[in-house]
Amino acid sequence: MEADKDMDADVDVDGDVTGDGAGMRAVVIDRYGGPEELRLATVPEPAAGPGRVLVDVTLAGLNYADLECRTGEYLRFPLPAVLGVDVVGRRRGDGRRVVALLRTGGGYAEVAAPEAAHTVEVPDGVGDEQALALLEQGATAYGALTLAGRLRPGEAVGVTAAAGGVGHLAVQLARELGAGRIVALASTPQKREFARSLGADTVLDPEDPDLAGRLAESGGLDLFLDSVGGKVLRAGLAGLAPFGRLVSVGARGGVEDGFTVGELAEGSAGLAVFWLKHALADRALFTGIAGQLFRLAADGRLVARIDRTVPLSGVAAAHRAMAARETMGKVLVDVRREG
Ligand SMILES: NC(=O)c1ccc[n+]([C@@H]2O[C@H](COP(=O)([O-])OP(=O)(O)OC[C@H]3O[C@@H](n4cnc5c(N)ncnc54)[C@H](OP(=O)(O)O)[C@@H]3O)[C@@H](O)[C@H]2O)c1
Repeated sequence: MEADKDMDADVDVDGDVTGDGAGMRAVVIDRYGGPEELRLATVPEPAAGPGRVLVDVTLAGLNYADLECRTGEYLRFPLPAVLGVDVVGRRRGDGRRVVALLRTGGGYAEVAAPEAAHTVEVPDGVGDEQALALLEQGATAYGALTLAGRLRPGEAVGVTAAAGGVGHLAVQLARELGAGRIVALASTPQKREFARSLGADTVLDPEDPDLAGRLAESGGLDLFLDSVGGKVLRAGLAGLAPFGRLVSVGARGGVEDGFTVGELAEGSAGLAVFWLKHALADRALFTGIAGQLFRLAADGRLVARIDRTVPLSGVAAAHRAMAARETMGKVLVDVRREG
């Protein structure tokens, strides 16, 4: 677990500033739990600290990981904590427009203090919404397809949660990277229609009782990019072509007893995991991926769908919507909007 002193906001029971320095509005949790724990408060601005920069936040992002940070199942930030792992805004000092990832939270706030190394300038041709929606989830999709999945042109690719933040970018990026066939999994007809509009050749319901059989049709998949785990990941293994690769970026459904080497050997299958923090630790790699995503966005070849934009007071409802699988694309938080 990574501790962050900047997260130790000094919030009293009424949510008023009790520390020194300027106050800001933020969404705070005092204990791990459900969406009802998310509380709008006025807290002290974070200090920049060594290696960090201050960003006047325009928009913060919502990520599925936030739900698991809120419950304490994933990264357990020191409490009280401000959740949120991605922001876009203006860097204090030079006023440049930057997008940043926050490995220790602090995003649902008017001011954030990301590590300078996890901050990238946004080119003029890319708007705030797109830059924010692309960085965390787009870099995950891109890294999973290329670094972990070693996607080659012409290969058949499967993508789970294909209408989600990571998934809808993965479908577009697979197409950009030359995938020969894309099979998208999503749980509702509306989501499947959306995935098809992004370039998926085939769309499937993850609850299909013969999911493995359907994935194996037309010779099977060379790469299965999964963010769900459990029975969906197992179906992905069964649906791989010989020498196919499973790439996991998340497994909220569990890995169902795991895989044995023997099971992988049945199809000469590979199993790889992509975790963005390892790309983030390599500045050249991180900025290279960000640059690639921004170029595609500026050319209009990669477009993040904005599902909704909520004020800070709407974060709890947005968490509920994401948990209920109602969102398609990226959910944004306009930290300056009253309401
Ligand atoms: N490895 C990394 O570095 C990294 C970085 C970022 C994100 N991730 C992971 O990538 C995944 C997607 O993240 P995201 O922020 O883009 O979220 P998201 O895909 O926008 O939302 C989650 C989606 O997962 C699907 N899902 C399947 N089972 C679910 C369940 N039991 N409860 C809720 N949703 C379920 C839903 O799509 P359907 O209804 O279509 O099934 C839902 O829309 C998450 O697992 C996240 O942890 C990993």
